[in-house]
Amino acid sequence: MSKFRALRLHRLGEPEEVLGLESLDPLLLGDGGVSIDVMAGALNFSDVLMCRGGYQVKPALPFTPGVEVSGVVTRVGEGVSSELVGERVLAVPDSGLGGFAEETVARVSQVFRIPPAMPFEDAAALHVTYQTSHLALHRRAAIQPGETLLVHAGAGGVGTAAIQLGIAAGARVFATAGGKEKVDLCRSLGAELVIDYLSDDFVEVVKEATGGRGADVIFDPVGGDTFDRSRKCIAFEGRLLVIGFTSGRIPEAPANHALVKNYSILGVHWGLYNTKNPALVHEIHRSLIGLYEAGAIRPLISEVVELSEVPAALGRLADRRTTGKIVWSRAPAPDNGRVREPVRQETPPSGTI
Ligand SMILES: NC(=O)c1ccc[n+]([C@@H]2O[C@H](COP(=O)([O-])OP(=O)(O)OC[C@H]3O[C@@H](n4cnc5c(N)ncnc54)[C@H](OP(=O)(O)O)[C@@H]3O)[C@@H](O)[C@H]2O)c1
Repeated sequence: MSKFRALRLHRLGEPEEVLGLESLDPLLLGDGGVSIDVMAGALNFSDVLMCRGGYQVKPALPFTPGVEVSGVVTRVGEGVSSELVGERVLAVPDSGLGGFAEETVARVSQVFRIPPAMPFEDAAALHVTYQTSHLALHRRAAIQPGETLLVHAGAGGVGTAAIQLGIAAGARVFATAGGKEKVDLCRSLGAELVIDYLSDDFVEVVKEATGGRGADVIFDPVGGDTFDRSRKCIAFEGRLLVIGFTSGRIPEAPANHALVKNYSILGVHWGLYNTKNPALVHEIHRSLIGLYEAGAIRPLISEVVELSEVPAALGRLADRRTTGKIVWSRAPAPDNGRVREPVRQETPPSGTI
């Protein structure tokens, strides 16, 4: 076992200022642990928040961020079948021993096999955002074919996943995004109606497109004014999904408004299911693999970077200058680093969800 490279921070702050590459000794492997030779890892908005100390999970300093990886299992701890060694997997690393490193450790319950033909980059980007969106749309909102789904920040990480999964579920998908490039991207994913909220009022557009009824399901990773305005275009018996607060403001809703209009506000904290209901997370993984293999979903990877480039890429993500997912890779292919052709689903595949 040899040393490996990892990005670590010893003080909290902006990723570009506090993250540095270090050479570390092989990690200790406790009971139930799995060691992974990391081939790729995906970047998430939560990594930025974690570097700043503004996320609900606060690992002790120094730590390595990064919440999703793919790679090959090299060692297993007590209580884990040795058959896992050599398997291609995706995983959620232990808190603090994150995915911006060439080696990481995860609980066996957080390790998921991937198909032999799936590129490591796709696998790394198929977990957090797709799991969150699938859980939100199906488990929490029980979305039905033919219902109208409005996805805010549709060009972002969870947004692109929610658009693809909404279409795969047979919903009529609308999206909002800021600026032409992001609007075009949502359209290329197959969203029927895309609203540039910088120039148009999404409330009016959604009402008009639904004959005044509003959207049945609203997927909101933004919060703030976006959440407040969403309450104005939610349908009778609609479901407003609270995914995140990229706007920086946690909104409040008057209970009488939910009563009068008969809608539900549904909290979504996907990470909690890993301890409260890990079987469901594995069930969703199988469903996502099925959808991927059927060609109904494919992570929209806009950039593939080297490990050393992750801090700058997190800076771009924090400044909302990114679309889809950024992935770091140990073995970037020559054609990586360009926007991938997104999957476009005209008709939903039957029986895959
Ligand atoms: N609840 C859960 O279990 C769960 C799981 C995963 C992620 N999340 C949360 O979901 C949110 C989105 O994550 P992500 O990885 O999809 O992020 P992302 O790819 O960076 O997308 C976020 C998008 O939010 C929009 N936005 C609006 N106001 C913003 C602001 N002030 N600063 C930055 N972005 C702003 C931007 O789109 P426009 O430019 O189009 O406005 C941006 O592209 C985060 O809050 C994350 O923590 C929650």
